[in-house]
Amino acid sequence: MPSSSSAPPPKLNRFTTPLLPGQFSTETYFSTQPPPPDLQARLQPVKEFVERWREVEGKRVVVVTSGGTTVPLEANTVRFLDNFSAGTRGSTSAEYFLSHPTTPYAVIFMHRQHSLRPYSRHYSHSLNPFLDLLTCPPPADTDSKNDSDKQITVNPSKTRQLLPVLRAYHASHHSPEPTICSLEFVTVNDYLWLLKELAEVVKPLGSRAMFYLAAAVSDFFLPQDRVAEHKIQSTRGNLTLEMDQVPKVLRPLVQEWIPEAFIVSFKLETDQALLVPKAQKALERYGHQVVIGNDLHKRKMEVVLVELDSARRDSSISTANDTRKEPQVTNVQGSVGGGKAFKQSWLRLAELQEEKKSQGLPREEVEGVEIEEMIVRRLVERHDQWLFNH
Ligand code: PMT
Repeated sequence: MPSSSSAPPPKLNRFTTPLLPGQFSTETYFSTQPPPPDLQARLQPVKEFVERWREVEGKRVVVVTSGGTTVPLEANTVRFLDNFSAGTRGSTSAEYFLSHPTTPYAVIFMHRQHSLRPYSRHYSHSLNPFLDLLTCPPPADTDSKNDSDKQITVNPSKTRQLLPVLRAYHASHHSPEPTICSLEFVTVNDYLWLLKELAEVVKPLGSRAMFYLAAAVSDFFLPQDRVAEHKIQSTRGNLTLEMDQVPKVLRPLVQEWIPEAFIVSFKLETDQALLVPKAQKALERYGHQVVIGNDLHKRKMEVVLVELDSARRDSSISTANDTRKEPQVTNVQGSVGGGKAFKQSWLRLAELQEEKKSQGLPREEVEGVEIEEMIVRRLVERHDQWLFNH
């Protein structure tokens, strides 16, 4: 691998954060790393999608990022580093945004190629292979000349579950006015460029736009001039990699690219004790609206929503123009850090199951509930308030 001597020298970025060697500012990143060659062509359908929904009064649009980014080690890529994410959080959440009972969103689903997607995720090849849904006549019948003998049908025992999924899939993807538009990324460079350009495309929607950043984005990358062109040969002995730091694009997204949007980021940790402090730090640093903390092992059972507590900030810090009223929140604990007050609310799957049980839903439906339903429900309330204030 070439050495890191080509990395930009340390300098101050526009927010006066000192940059360490090997750390790129956002400006340096985008001026040195080329965009994907087909970027504008890929964005064209998204522009049309946004234009269409912008004309529908009050319609909200959410950009959901989903799946993990790669860092290729070779331009002709044989090997790459990957970030953990199957795309479950993103694809599941997209479905709840699309089907929200009072405020269905239009969804721009920006996802890692081949990761899970809304609706088809229910039939992933490893968990629920679609061939297992089908029945066909025995080979003797299939050899007949009669076409009706060759018909493939859906196994009747599977149709009850499949039908609502298929209907929702058709309505969102194939109706005359689709409510979902998808965009794929593979590398971290694809992701950063797409997010930057998407912010521009979505900007006309103003505060009607939400960003829901569930993708797992690499913190390290190899600048283009240090990526080997061909497969790295093992005959060269050990492979030593020196990677540079990816700029956190959350900062320009919130502060420059689209400050009107309602922005939600995720924080993944393996030590639960770090979730809340790290989420608070992110809110302080980037100034966006919500951080959702999730523990790797419990992420399907519970998450914590961390937000600025504007009510408590009102009493402790002067906020001349802040007329914001917070909606009712249950299970809230407050804390103060860095001169700001935060509130945190835990969302637990067990509570949703209790709620569904008390509504008299059948057991299999109670057992099938997903925490993303709670997350989306809570965020839509927060977005209501954001719109009310803007
Ligand atoms: O798909 P699943 O298997 O269900 O997994 C879902 C998940 C656990 C990956 C998801 O819920 C999650 O936690 N995603 C965020 C994981 C992550 O990358 O966290 P981070 O600490 O690296 O980044 C925090 C935030 O900063 C992210 O929202 C990211 O969009 C943003 N970021 C990250 C890197 C970067 N260079 N710029 C950024 O803006």
